[in-house]
Amino acid sequence: MPGLRAPSNYSEEPSRHPSLKINAKEPFNAEPPRQALVTSYVTPTEFFYKRSHGPIPVVDDIERYNVSVKGLIEKPKEFFMKDILSLPKYNVTATLQCAGNRRTAMSKTRTVRGVGWDVCALGNAIWGGAKLADVLELVGIPKYTNATPAGGKFVEFVSVDRCKEENGGPYKASIPLSQATNPEADVLLAYEMNGETLNRDHGYPLRVVVPGVIGARSVKWLDSINIDSQDCKGFFVQKDYKMFPPSVNWDNIDWSTRRPQMDFPVQSAICSLEDVNVGRHGKITVKGYAVSGGGRGIERVDISTDGGKTWKEASRYQKPGIQYVADDEKNDKWAWVLFEAEVDVNSNTEIVAKAVDIAANVQPEKVEDIWNLRGILNTSWHRVHVQVRHSSM
Ligand code: MTE
Repeated sequence: MPGLRAPSNYSEEPSRHPSLKINAKEPFNAEPPRQALVTSYVTPTEFFYKRSHGPIPVVDDIERYNVSVKGLIEKPKEFFMKDILSLPKYNVTATLQCAGNRRTAMSKTRTVRGVGWDVCALGNAIWGGAKLADVLELVGIPKYTNATPAGGKFVEFVSVDRCKEENGGPYKASIPLSQATNPEADVLLAYEMNGETLNRDHGYPLRVVVPGVIGARSVKWLDSINIDSQDCKGFFVQKDYKMFPPSVNWDNIDWSTRRPQMDFPVQSAICSLEDVNVGRHGKITVKGYAVSGGGRGIERVDISTDGGKTWKEASRYQKPGIQYVADDEKNDKWAWVLFEAEVDVNSNTEIVAKAVDIAANVQPEKVEDIWNLRGILNTSWHRVHVQVRHSSM
């Protein structure tokens, strides 16, 4: 691709914040420490989790970089950066969450395949860019289109990075045309993150952001957009990021029986505490995040200090000075809420968090019930242990 290059090795990686917890070095996969993640509603870019499948691409010449839009359309076209920048700019605050978030905990019940993640493979950023619906209009696809006259029903995004899962080919993914052409779905071709030019780890010069959907569909380092009659045939759509029942194992798996995962389910985790904490008895502040897919707001976050027998409701917040109401237009519908509750702990106990979204979807109690061989979508109640050290005074 002119202007954007995929290195064949890891000698040109960008520098990263030293406090990130590295789960895999090459390709680079890292998440922030728990406490750092919930210190701000908008996640600072350096603390935003990084999930890549190959060496980070390099821009050699931004003037020559362009994205071609082609496939089952009447007017294929190439968009240079200046064309994208000339379109109306939108800022969308959206939480991106990797489907593998909390995989390490799932793997403790039964082995799963995939990079281990604690509870911080997500972040909330202000993404700036053009709406995909506006770009598609310029190639002759009107807003709110389900199918093009030539039969295009899906929008495939193709990158330039070299992934071993694709036998050295690029990362790719697709979303339905109906979502791509719906301006309210807020699908962006983003060139900014938190008010600054997108950095290399997060997709410079241009990435897709699909709010409310697992992070895997938000393709970084965009090279081309292809309008097709079917879902993308790439590895990450057909043979990964699908949710299987607990009965399926590597001997009996048939990938074609399940659809690619899109929306993420309701999720929450406590970030002010580690898995095991030792401290004095008394008051503890329990702080964390809750988020649901598809733009569904968070109706409630329940906290238990007795392993789930009794519950107390936590307070929820997004932006300072604005009361959070789950379906109010003043709030960011694609973004997480942070929650906080003060609890009394007098003996060794298990603190639990569970969230409920506006459709009354609730996190499942046990990880065993949602175990799946790829270890995705661990949204079970989040549990941490507190051991109380009684002082001898
Ligand atoms: N896009 C490309 N080109 N290559 C990738 O490896 N990883 C995907 C998605 N887009 C990926 C990609 C996955 S699995 C996730 S969770 C998000 O990017 C991570 O985005 P981030 O690194 O900006 O947090």
